[in-house]
Amino acid sequence: MSGIQIAPSLLSADFAVMWEEIASMERAGADLLHCDVMDGVFVPNITFGIKMVADMHKRTALPLDCHLMIVEPWKYVQAFAEAGARYITVHFEACGERLAETLQKIRSLGVGAGAVINPDTPVSVLEPVLPFCDMVLLMSVFPGFGGQKYIGSVTEKIGQARRMIDRSGRKILLEVDGGITASNVSEVKAAGADVIVAGSAVFGAADRRVAIAALRGAGK
Ligand code: DX5
Ligand code: ZN
Repeated sequence: MSGIQIAPSLLSADFAVMWEEIASMERAGADLLHCDVMDGVFVPNITFGIKMVADMHKRTALPLDCHLMIVEPWKYVQAFAEAGARYITVHFEACGERLAETLQKIRSLGVGAGAVINPDTPVSVLEPVLPFCDMVLLMSVFPGFGGQKYIGSVTEKIGQARRMIDRSGRKILLEVDGGITASNVSEVKAAGADVIVAGSAVFGAADRRVAIAALRGAGK
């Protein structure tokens, strides 16, 4: 996939009319749908699970980018793969030394495997698992809620991750997630992001198509 991709986060959608929200994202030009799965344990919030992803997959051709903010994610990756996930990203902070095996399991299911780190986790923890990654996701807010402010110190981490991925010579998408708006997206893209996750900046916009175009078009 060439050029920047925009992955609206469904966390900011109206869950009571999720199908309409997904159709709205199709019309607005989203490239992927970012599905924030939360268990109330790894993060202090609960969203949706496997059946929601399966039902969404039945209704849209947009790739589902499933961000698992759950404990023991290795137990659930097969179910999310069978539900139709295109990418499954799992947290270093949830997997620890099981990260490599979890990424390999995701890949063995024919799904793009991604490793996620929180704003206070160093990029260096990802180096050993790059061989098993199709995506790296850097959190630019602490996970759990939409509408938070972008943490500026993450911009440096984006550059570090970009250089690390480029040195590896591997085809790995660098995704950034949290607090991204039209006013800071140029900084995020210039630092090396390939995929931009945005929830409130898209779902809270008067015109969602304009909002996605502004995120895609700004800077870099
Ligand atoms: C937070 C989620 C993010 C969030 C992004 O835990 O992983 O995807 O929904 O929403 P905004 O763009 O509003 O920060
Ligand atoms: Zn997310």
